[in-house]
Amino acid sequence: MKIGSPEHKELFCQSFIASHRQYEPEALPWPDLDDITLQRLRGIPFWGEAVRIETSAGVMVNTFAETITDPLIKEAVLLQGYEETRHSRLLKFMAERYQLDVQDQTPEPIPSKIEPAFIRFGYGECIDSFFAFGLFETGRQLGYFPDTILGIFDPVLDEEARHITFFVNWIAYLQTNRGRGAAPLRAGLTAWNYGRALWNLINLIRSNAGGSGSGFTATGGSIVDANLTVEQFLATCLERNAHRMSGFDARLLRPQLLPAVAALALNTLKLLPKRHPAKVEERSPWELDGEMRG
Ligand SMILES: [Fe+2]
Ligand SMILES: [Fe+2]
Repeated sequence: MKIGSPEHKELFCQSFIASHRQYEPEALPWPDLDDITLQRLRGIPFWGEAVRIETSAGVMVNTFAETITDPLIKEAVLLQGYEETRHSRLLKFMAERYQLDVQDQTPEPIPSKIEPAFIRFGYGECIDSFFAFGLFETGRQLGYFPDTILGIFDPVLDEEARHITFFVNWIAYLQTNRGRGAAPLRAGLTAWNYGRALWNLINLIRSNAGGSGSGFTATGGSIVDANLTVEQFLATCLERNAHRMSGFDARLLRPQLLPAVAALALNTLKLLPKRHPAKVEERSPWELDGEMRG
């Protein structure tokens, strides 16, 4: 199958549409949570930002879909818009159920240049999802949240895996069919977005090599004491990324540059002399995420 061919388009659109899951956030098996778990959930600082991002994404993706002339691609993008809006509904429902702080999340205005906005968003999702896969697994391994609540978010991460797979195939299809005319835009966007990812990884490596020697430590309460190094975290991201991407048709493209950069960073870290782990201030898994974003 040739990338950019009508068969390629059929495959990346139809597989995306066929793998859509039907569910209503309000009908999910939301568990009653104990006080410690509630405190942890309420301590996560980015719920408001997450709602704002998902709400804005839903509006932006749907707006972009309306500009697409190809009916099959349009159907797929509309479905992604629906799923992003559903993520926002899910977060809002969760915030209400567990009294999380999600104030001040005014959605972003709809960008005037909608296709470049969708492209920027797509590359951003490739980066965010890669780290989210690892973060989610790290939280699970630490026993930070019960399986009942993780079970609600697992399909959301699978949806993001579908979104980024759709995106990398769509952009390759678009670039191939637009030919050379779009090359400067393409190269610029790719360099910008992946440059940001590389910058984040460099910051991670710096903090690992120059800091206390321990990427982050999650302690306290009933949490298992664990020193997690950046090395371990990147290894988890790579492993979970490979796992979540393994379910897609082998003929489809999947995000490659960021996993390759992360693997390179991991191999470099393995070569660095090891320091003795030292006690660092208590930090939670999501704080590492913030650190990575610089
Ligand atoms: Fe989303
Ligand atoms: Fe998404």
